Amino acid sequence: MGNQHLEDFCRRLRLVFGGDVVDSRFRRYRRSPERFAGEILNSRWWPRQRDIARCVMQSRRTVVKSANGVGKTYLAADLSLWFLYCHAPSIVLTTAPTRRQVESLLWEEIRRRIRRSNAELPGVLLKTKLQIREGWFALGLATDEDVRFQGFHAENMLIVMDEASGVPDEIWNAIEGVAVGRNNRVLAIGNPLAPAGQFYRAFRSSRWRTLTVSAMEHPNVTGRGEAIEGAVTRETVADRVAEWCEEISPPTAGARQAADCFEWDGRWYRPNDLFLTRVLGEFPEDAENRLILLRWIERAMASGLEPAGPVFMAVDVARFGQDCSVIAVRRGESVVRLENFAAWT
Ligand SMILES: Nc1ncnc2c1ncn2[C@@H]1O[C@H](COP(=O)(O)OP(=O)(O)OP(=O)(O)O)[C@@H](O)[C@H]1O
Ligand SMILES: [Mg+2]
Repeated sequence: MGNQHLEDFCRRLRLVFGGDVVDSRFRRYRRSPERFAGEILNSRWWPRQRDIARCVMQSRRTVVKSANGVGKTYLAADLSLWFLYCHAPSIVLTTAPTRRQVESLLWEEIRRRIRRSNAELPGVLLKTKLQIREGWFALGLATDEDVRFQGFHAENMLIVMDEASGVPDEIWNAIEGVAVGRNNRVLAIGNPLAPAGQFYRAFRSSRWRTLTVSAMEHPNVTGRGEAIEGAVTRETVADRVAEWCEEISPPTAGARQAADCFEWDGRWYRPNDLFLTRVLGEFPEDAENRLILLRWIERAMASGLEPAGPVFMAVDVARFGQDCSVIAVRRGESVVRLENFAAWT
């Protein structure tokens, strides 16, 4: 065997059986995904990517609703590799609604990151699989195929749902069901396309840590911090403001929240549903909630006002159709009881 062949052969051996070496090299990054991403993968995150990574490290379930082009998939690729290499042995499952999305979005980023890595990252890399050794691998699965998440168990496991608002509820439930091991994590990220389904419900569940990322905060848009090539731009946002938002007269400081508007280049606007979803990373309104906007309700629920003061009761009586009758009890500014009845029988 010539020298070159011998070297290639040894390299391949190291790639396939190098697990123990990896473990000792990368173990120290377990609590520092950002350092792993920086030192090994050559990635620099912007602050909101950092927040998401911190959340994944600290919590079992993280759900992120976000604008387009802010780096969700990019970050998910970094975190997949961080978890895989720093928690040996581990399983990383990534999923998205279609095979095309799995292959061309997250796994394209994973391939790119491995190619540009500063370190030799062992493992055999296929289109949507990276195997370090038996029981230690990352795998991409599409939820429109016959996927059985129930079959996967490991003490160290990360499940990433990209484009999570399109992941069917039954898969979502299966994933929540399997991610119960000691060091199991789930990261669900996506554009908040509709106020329905498990992605939406996760934002109202205490079992999930929730984050929202608006394009308005991105360094390319604010002009503060290092620009990121390929991500959302100020020009795109300006176009969308012009196309999707209605200009309004400047509200008084007190009325700003209720007016549900934002300032852009010194003018005031009210967003439409597309702008909410694609630029602000907020759920659109569904037709039933037009009178009292969903995000007003969410804001009120998050306000944490203490019940104090006089007690009021109110009733909204339903008669025909699908509505329920509702009785609410309010103490001061805080609703302390809400009951609904399908019918008055
Ligand atoms: N921290 C970063 N460093 C370098 N490039 C980045 C970074 N974050 C994102 N990018 C690049 O910005 C572009 C948009 O990122 P990405 O596709 O991850 O955004 P996204 O939020 O998933 O978008 P979408 O809403 O379309 O799914 C990509 O070209 C990606 O490679
Ligand atoms: Mg994406």
